[in-house]
Order: sequence, then structure tokens, then C-alpha cells
Amino acid sequence: MHGSAGCLIAALFVCTLHVCTAEELINPPNKIAIVGAGIGGTSAAYFLRQKFGKHVKIDLYEKGEVGGRLATVEMEGNLYEAGGSLIHPLNIHMKTFVKELGLSPKTPSGDLLGIYNGEEFVFQESEWFLINVIKMLWNYGLNFLRMYMFVEDMLDKFMRIYRYQTFDYSFSSTESILHAMGGKEFSESVNKTIDEVMQKAGFSQRFIDEIVAPAMRTNYGQGVKINGFVGAVSLAGTDSGLWSVEGGNKLVCTGLLYASKANLIQGTVNSVQEKTRPLKSGGTTKLYEVNFETSNGGQLEMYDIVIIATPLNSGFSDIKFLAFDPPIETFTKPYQQTVATFVHGQLNYSFIGCPEPCPYELSEILTTDNPNLFFSSIGAVSPVKTKQDVDSSRSSGLKVWKVFSPEPLTSDQLHLLFKSYHAVISKTWLAYPHYDPPKKLPPIILHDRIYYINSIEWAASAMEVSAVSAKNVALLSYHRWYGKMEKIDQENISEKIKSEL
Ligand SMILES: Cc1cc2nc3c(=O)[nH]c(=O)nc-3n(C[C@H](O)[C@H](O)[C@H](O)COP(=O)(O)OP(=O)(O)OC[C@H]3O[C@@H](n4cnc5c(N)ncnc54)[C@H](O)[C@@H]3O)c2cc1C
Ligand SMILES: *[C@@H]1O[C@H](CO)[C@@H](O)[C@H](O)[C@H]1NC(C)=O
Ligand SMILES: *[C@@H]1O[C@H](CO)[C@@H](O)[C@H](O)[C@H]1NC(C)=O
Ligand SMILES: *[C@@H]1O[C@H](CO)[C@@H](O)[C@H](O)[C@H]1NC(C)=O
Repeated sequence: MHGSAGCLIAALFVCTLHVCTAEELINPPNKIAIVGAGIGGTSAAYFLRQKFGKHVKIDLYEKGEVGGRLATVEMEGNLYEAGGSLIHPLNIHMKTFVKELGLSPKTPSGDLLGIYNGEEFVFQESEWFLINVIKMLWNYGLNFLRMYMFVEDMLDKFMRIYRYQTFDYSFSSTESILHAMGGKEFSESVNKTIDEVMQKAGFSQRFIDEIVAPAMRTNYGQGVKINGFVGAVSLAGTDSGLWSVEGGNKLVCTGLLYASKANLIQGTVNSVQEKTRPLKSGGTTKLYEVNFETSNGGQLEMYDIVIIATPLNSGFSDIKFLAFDPPIETFTKPYQQTVATFVHGQLNYSFIGCPEPCPYELSEILTTDNPNLFFSSIGAVSPVKTKQDVDSSRSSGLKVWKVFSPEPLTSDQLHLLFKSYHAVISKTWLAYPHYDPPKKLPPIILHDRIYYINSIEWAASAMEVSAVSAKNVALLSYHRWYGKMEKIDQENISEKIKSEL
């Protein structure tokens, strides 16, 4: 093998004395466009900068606010997480970003959980650990323990991706990412419902309906018909040690943008088109023309590589791919609407089946899949900034509640759910895919040098999953640019890594 240091020195002269790797013979890209400055786009900028070095120009287009679905709302002078809020302790990319950007993690206070079926609580947590264990065993046998092992197994497989990415391996489709994590059964879980997967694994139907469905409803606004992979990701959200970022999760996006030295263009990308351009040295090259609109009107820029870091569904991004042959397929599958309503007030416990005085001080209420319910979950929340004076909230007895529902709450509904309230603010999201397996996942490679990070959302939508896909796209685009095919879609990577060490 040729030493790469020797090759690098040779490349400074003329690379003829010995066979050089493709890297020295191929010019680096001049310009890369990223569309979307959510966690996917900003982490892509960060990883692309790491891979391609300091000379490539990276433009990041954003039509709204940096952060995208990581956003805060302000109510009574405090900021609350309105979109993606909780991060798992084993989410390594998010953890690393927070550390490297000098941010700090924040853990929410322990909440007592209740599960409401439209008439009564089917499950309430107690302050006493032992009572919880007895209740769980009494009602559900060993299902809770089995769920813990089920999630553990999924996380074990998911975490293999970090090692592969550390050793520069990339994948050309979301299916092959999942396959590399956990083999055929794992990748096929996107084509089964979580209901099917858990029944097959021996969980009781009662447990699935009363415990699993409520977790799916609060995390994804949908019941147990969502796919097995996103279902397992969602169950990981019942683990302990979940955290968020002090000051707001979107600070990770602004931090990554700054650290990547990408150029933020505040504007809407309308279309992408391939153009042939003459080279100074003779011959031609193919570039992508990105058409966008800013407050100064319509403009265009040319790029070597284009990275789409937003869902391509209509209503979300409305980007057109003009005159591609064969055409780049359009994505018509719908996103699920979820409304987050923040209410500062007093919960009407009798409405949720606990006549006053309700003995439980529940602060997290999940619901079973009952079509008569107009909300999916209610949880007490605290501002993104840790308060110095802890006394202020205790004195009034009023809490700030976050209600998730598929439709905006009417004032009649608010009056049923709350005995009294004095501030309400809501945010409507096209939140995550409406999962309806089996479905073919969208491609990552949309065209020769156009990549789609959000393909992975159809397997599971979560911050860490976006960052995993962003790093994969950074590696994939790099290896494809320099023709390093041995770093793409390899089988048995673990064995290869061992032999590389
Ligand atoms: C209510 C809610 C709760 C959630 N809870 C959690 C949670 O607890 N934990 C978790 O991990 N995940 C959670 N998620 C999911 C998580 O927020 C998302 O998976 C993640 O933020 C998606 O990031 P992204 O960068 O892929 O997309 P986005 O954040 O949507 O970023 C895409 C960006 O592209 C921009 N854009 C779109 N079209 C164009 C265009 N044509 N030109 C220019 N810019 C464009 C958009 O304005 C947007 O800023 C939640 C999501 C919601 C909505
Ligand atoms: C609370 O819920 C009960 C039971 O559904 C309902 O009758 C009442 O109107 C609600 N509102 C208040 C303010 O108590
Ligand atoms: C899932 O099903 C779709 C259509 O039924 C199929 O095209 C796709 O290959 C399947 N995916 C996996 C990972 O098996
Ligand atoms: C991967 O490893 C397995 C078992 O170690 C082996 O049977 C298989 O042929 C390997 N596949 C490739 C493509 O090397």
C-alpha cells in the first residue's frame, strides 16, 4: 500500500512518480448547497466541513428560522420547547455537539405518569418505586421487563452506526443503513407495524394497547400502526435519563452553523436543475443550478453538490426538480399534523376521570387510542432556561401544561380540560411522517450528486436520526466525489474495522 503522506507530498508536485489514489487526481468540489437549516442541514454542514476541508464553500438555505422543527415559543416571558424536545442519553451525535459547542444539558424533573383511556386511568404511577413495580407486575406480568430488553436490543444495534461512521463507512440507502445496524429482520421492521412486531415478540395485547399505544401517541401523534422501527425508537423515549439543551435545543443548530463556517442564505429554494458548463481547461462539467427567492427577489447559484435537508413533501418544502431524465420522483405521502398548545392554568382532573379532590399529582398524562379523545397527551413543562429561584412556581399551584392534539383546541375544549387558565399559545406542525407500513423508503441519492437526508424520517423521525443521516450523507457524498467505492455499502464492516486496526 502507498503511504498516504507520501502521496500527499507527491501530489504537490506532479502525481506521476507512483500510482496515486483518486483523491489527489480529482479536484475538490468548489461549492455545496444545503437546503434546510434544521438539525439535519446544520449537522450536515458541520460534517461536510470536517470531510471536505476548509476551502469548499458551503451555502445553507433556510426559508424560516434556523432550527426548523427545533423551536421555542414564548409565553409570559418564558421560552418552552415547542417541537423536538427530548434527547436519549445514548444519542451520541447530539451529546457530542452539545459538548463541542460548549452548551449544557438539562434534565427534566421526575414526572408521575398516568394513562387515561377516555373514561378512567388504566395506569397511574406512584411516588413509591415498590408500588410501581407491584402494579406493573400485577397488571402486565413481565411485559415491562421484556419491553426494557426489547428497547435495549434496538439501541444496541442502532449504536453500531457510530463505529461505522467513525471509520468512514457510508450507505447509499436508508434500508442499507438499517441493514448494517441489525441485519434483515431489523431493516424489515420498517415494513411491519409496531403492533405486529411486539405481538410476535410475545407482548400481551393489553400491554400494547394500554402502555405502548400511549407512548406512540405522545411521541408521534399516531397509534400502534406506525412502523416497528419508529415504534422502538419511540419506546426508547420511555427510558430514564432523557435530556434537552439548556436554553433550547435549537441552540445546537445555530452552534453547528457557526462552527461549520457555512454561509446562511435566508431564502426559499424553488427549484434545482442540472446545467452543463464549459471548463476553462476545455471540455464541459455538469453543475446544479439552485433557484431561490430572497427579500431581494429571485436569484440563482451553481453548485457541485446539493443536499436536501427538509422533507420534500408538498406543503413542507415545495422544491421542484426541473428537466431531470429520468425525473426525480416527487413525494406525496402525507405528514402528520400535531398541535402543541401551552396552557398556564389548573388542570380539570375530573374531566380526565379523577373526581376532585384527585389523589394523584400526575404531571404526565398519556392516552390510549380512543377516537373520542381530542388530545393525545398532556404534560407539565418547564422553561428551557433553568430558573434560579425555585420558589416562584411553587407558590401559585399553577403549572404550564403542553397539550398535544391532532387539531387546534377549541375554547370549549380548553374549558373542559382546564378549570381555569390565564395564558394560551399554540404551534401547529407538520410534525413527522404519517407512518403507514409497508412502504418503500425514499432514496438518499436523488441524482448523481443530489442527496436527501430526510429519507430516513420514513424509518424514524428524531433529532439523532437526522444527525446520523446527515453524517452518512456527508461521508457518502465525499466517497462518491472521490470514487472511494470501498467505503460505500460494505458488508461485514465490523470484521473490516478489526483488520484495519
Ligand atoms: C411536536 C414535535 C415533537 C417532537 N419531539 C421530538 C423529541 O422529543 N425528540 C426527538 O428526537 N425528535 C422529536 N421530534 C422530531 C424532530 O424534531 C425532527 O425529527 C427533527 O427536528 C427534524 O430535523 P430536520 O433538520 O430533518 O428537519 P426540519 O427541522 O424540518 O428542517 C428543515 C428546514 O428546511 C427549511 N425549508 C423547507 N423547505 C425549504 C425551502 N424550499 N427553501 C429553504 N428552506 C426550506 C424549513 O424551514 C426547516 O427549517 C419532534 C417533532 C415535533 C414536530
Ligand atoms: C371539568 O370536567 C367536568 C367533567 O367532565 C365538567 O363537567 C366541567 O364542566 C369541567 N370544567 C370545570 C371548570 O370544572
Ligand atoms: C418494504 O415494502 C416495500 C413495498 O411493499 C418494498 O418495496 C420494500 O423493498 C420493502 N422494504 C424492506 C426493507 O423490506
Ligand atoms: C460476511 O460474513 C459472513 C460470516 O462471517 C460470511 O458468511 C459472508 O460471506 C460475509 N459476506 C461478505 C460479503 O464478505
